[in-house]
Amino acid sequence: MKYTVLLFLFLSQTAFSQQYKSRPITGLLGAFGAEVELVKQTLKNPKTVVVDGVTFTTGRLGKQKVVVAETGIGKVNAAMTTALLLDHFRPERVLFTGIAGGTNPELQPGDIVIAGRTAHHDYGSITDKNTPTRQTRNVITKQFNPVYFPADTSLMRLAEKVVKDIPLEGIPLASGGVSDRPVKVVTGTVVTGDVFVASPIKVSSLRADFGADATEMEGAAIAQVCYQINVPHLIIRSLSDRADAEAHIAFDKFYPTAARNSAKLVIAIVQAL
Ligand code: ADE
Repeated sequence: MKYTVLLFLFLSQTAFSQQYKSRPITGLLGAFGAEVELVKQTLKNPKTVVVDGVTFTTGRLGKQKVVVAETGIGKVNAAMTTALLLDHFRPERVLFTGIAGGTNPELQPGDIVIAGRTAHHDYGSITDKNTPTRQTRNVITKQFNPVYFPADTSLMRLAEKVVKDIPLEGIPLASGGVSDRPVKVVTGTVVTGDVFVASPIKVSSLRADFGADATEMEGAAIAQVCYQINVPHLIIRSLSDRADAEAHIAFDKFYPTAARNSAKLVIAIVQAL
C-alpha cells in the first residue's frame, strides 16, 4: 500500500514536470476554419482541448509547441478567445493568421500585410464635427492605450525575413489558371472594426485617417488583449478583396488562396523561432 502511494506520488510529479517542461507554447489564432486549416493540417501530434466551449488544438510545428484556435468573427469573439488562450495556456507569444480587405491601392488579393501596428477603426465618440477620440483605456492600468498597438518587433522582423523564402500562391484567374504576378508583401497598418467594408468611400477614410493598408475584424482586439497582458503578438493578413464595391465577389473567389498565403507565412515564422 505504502509503495503504491509512493509510486502514485512519483508518477504524478513526473507528469507535472513533463507538463511544466513542455512549455513554452505559441498561440496561433485565425477567425474561421479556412484561416487555420493549413496550420492544423501541418500540426504533428494534434490533440484537442475544450476550454469554456472553445476548442483549442495543441501540437507541434517543427520543434515548437503550438496551440491553435478559431476565434470566431468580430472583435468580441476575438477578445474572448484570446483571453481564454492566454489564461489557460500562458503562451509566450500570439500570432494571428487570416484574410483582410486591402485599402492600399498598390495591393491586390493574395498580397500580404505584416501588421507592424493595428488600430480599432470603429472606436471613439461620434460628433457632428467628426472629431475622433480613438484611444481605448487599459482595463488593468486605467491608462489610455495607444491608438496603434505595435507588433512585437522581433516577430515582425522574423516575418519579413522568412517571407522571402516561402512559395506564395498567385490568385486564380478567370481563364482557369493562376496569376504569375509575384505576391507583394508589405509591413504596414491593419485596422479593425466590427464591419465588413465594401465601400470605396470608407476605404479612402481608413487610408486618410489611419494610413491603413488593410481592414479586418479581429486584429486590434487581439493586439489590445495581448498589449494589456504583456504578451508579444503579430498579426498577419493576406488580402481576399479590396474592400470596394466588388468586395463580396472578390472575397468568395480569393479567400482560400489568401488564407493559405497567410497561413504559410505564420507556419514559416513559427518554424524559424
Ligand atoms: N476580411 C476580408 N475582407 C474584409 C473586408 N472587406 N472588410 C472587413 N473584413 C474583411
